[in-house]
Amino acid sequence: MTTPEQLQLPLPELNEIAPDQVINYAIHTYWGVENPQRFGELMEEAKGLVGAGYFLGDNLFTWLRNNSALEDLPFRKAWQENAQNPADEAIVWRRYILACAAYHCVHIPGDFVECGVYVGTGIKTVMDYLGGQAFPKTFWGYDTYDYNPVEGHAFAGQQEGFYEKVQARFEDYPQVRLIKGFLPDSFEDNEPEQVAYLHIDLNNVEGEVAVLERLFDRVSPGGIIILDDYEWAGVYRPQKQAEDQWFDRRKYRIFPLPTGQGIILKR
Ligand SMILES: C[S@@+](CC[C@H](N)C(=O)[O-])C[C@H]1O[C@@H](n2cnc3c(N)ncnc32)[C@H](O)[C@@H]1O
Repeated sequence: MTTPEQLQLPLPELNEIAPDQVINYAIHTYWGVENPQRFGELMEEAKGLVGAGYFLGDNLFTWLRNNSALEDLPFRKAWQENAQNPADEAIVWRRYILACAAYHCVHIPGDFVECGVYVGTGIKTVMDYLGGQAFPKTFWGYDTYDYNPVEGHAFAGQQEGFYEKVQARFEDYPQVRLIKGFLPDSFEDNEPEQVAYLHIDLNNVEGEVAVLERLFDRVSPGGIIILDDYEWAGVYRPQKQAEDQWFDRRKYRIFPLPTGQGIILKR
């Protein structure tokens, strides 16, 4: 069997952690709260009532946890250097799920793919965790970039010229292929033959199911699919409904994560 050393993968080193101390984390960025000020005050009070190792943010409040994302120093560096706004700071646990999936998938045959890129922070955090410019895989990033086709979901900066700005962010990463266009049409002539890592984050059911139809069979055994919105309710609930059915027909169950993501381990 080929060892990681023989493959010369640029894997981050595991650092020492303090045996008797854990990291606390709190950021008041969450979604679906009617009165954020009152909620924030209550959460501040609640924090004082729990043991060390609390995490607050991104609609999570946990305690007595290791907060592994923050203990992993190479990850922490990649995340902090790439965070662009308070939402990126809040979703650190979600980002670490991506980073750990990516650590697994660099060992698996196939390319890396993200459908729904926005400004590219998900891609760049993962790549910087796994070697930065030495990242050993082709990474495809699909998005309409200059506009958001999901009604009511436009993000800051999505206007003419946005695609070029995202491209500029990756100018030192020749392994990144940013494909501009509406999915699934933009797969035409621009799609990976084999996939190791597939992150789907389109915020709409039609787009996500279309991506699964197109790419699922190309995901290698041992590859990982991450659905960013799967375990979120509210406007995202139709995604769970459709994706559960889609995977049930193929005899898969999606792992629902407390972060709001869903994970599928390809056989
Ligand atoms: C939540 S953002 C992606 C965030 C990114 N994955 C990250 O981790 O930072 C969702 C993106 O999906 C894109 N999108 C939604 N539906 C699409 C479709 N059918 N084709 C291409 N892009 C789409 C939007 O333009 C938007 O930029």
